[in-house]
Amino acid sequence: MTRQTLVAGNWKMNGTTDSIAELMSGLLSGLDQTGGKQAQVLVFPPTVYLNAVVDQCRNAPLGCGAQDVAVPESGAHTGDVSAAMLADIGCTHVLVGHSERRADHGERSDLVAQKARATLDAGLVPVVCCGETLEDRDAGRTEKVVGEQLDAVISQLDEAALARLIVAYEPVWAIGTGKTASADQAQQVHAFIRNKFASINDTIADRLIILYGGSVKGENAAELFSQPDIDGGLIGGASLTAEQFLPICQAGA
Ligand code: PGA
Repeated sequence: MTRQTLVAGNWKMNGTTDSIAELMSGLLSGLDQTGGKQAQVLVFPPTVYLNAVVDQCRNAPLGCGAQDVAVPESGAHTGDVSAAMLADIGCTHVLVGHSERRADHGERSDLVAQKARATLDAGLVPVVCCGETLEDRDAGRTEKVVGEQLDAVISQLDEAALARLIVAYEPVWAIGTGKTASADQAQQVHAFIRNKFASINDTIADRLIILYGGSVKGENAAELFSQPDIDGGLIGGASLTAEQFLPICQAGA
């Protein structure tokens, strides 16, 4: 089956009110001009800017998601933001288990699974991130590590929930390093991920969107996105300017 390409910009902890307004206006005018000939496009701004960006995405060919979410729905959880709140302001997607959350905040796969569940319960789509370190890859443990990260989430969800997931494969050694996985290396892991879902349900596996992330740029996007099991990208650094991000969106057309 043909899956629509999805290009998602993860802005991480970058931007100011002014720089984000400039980036959004560049994206909105650039995406309009391509008249629908691009991938589905999402942006993931820092939490404090979500409301403003969601507002600008209304009636635009652009969706908005959050970079993280808390597990509880509400209550005494100082500093946290719930999936219900993200849904309330109009977010549609949430990144869960990004390697920077795993590294900076010690997030383990069982917590990532709970975050995916909380996201689904609020009617939002979790983008479940997974990926191996360089040490794992060199030791031949890529599939074991990625498999375990995904199993933690998959084992908590029924098929109806699994059908709503998006997966992002992001080798840790390729994030922000300028070292992209080759199209072959990425395709191999993407095929492994799709097979894992196929062992549960073929239709779910067939429809599953699996994004690649890690130093995607305008120059390498088309080759990566043309692989049979790569359905788009999760873009960090190159999503911070319209000049760099738009060509990636167009590579997914
Ligand atoms: P990068 O980040 O494109 O800057 O490598 C990707 C990500 O972490 O989502």
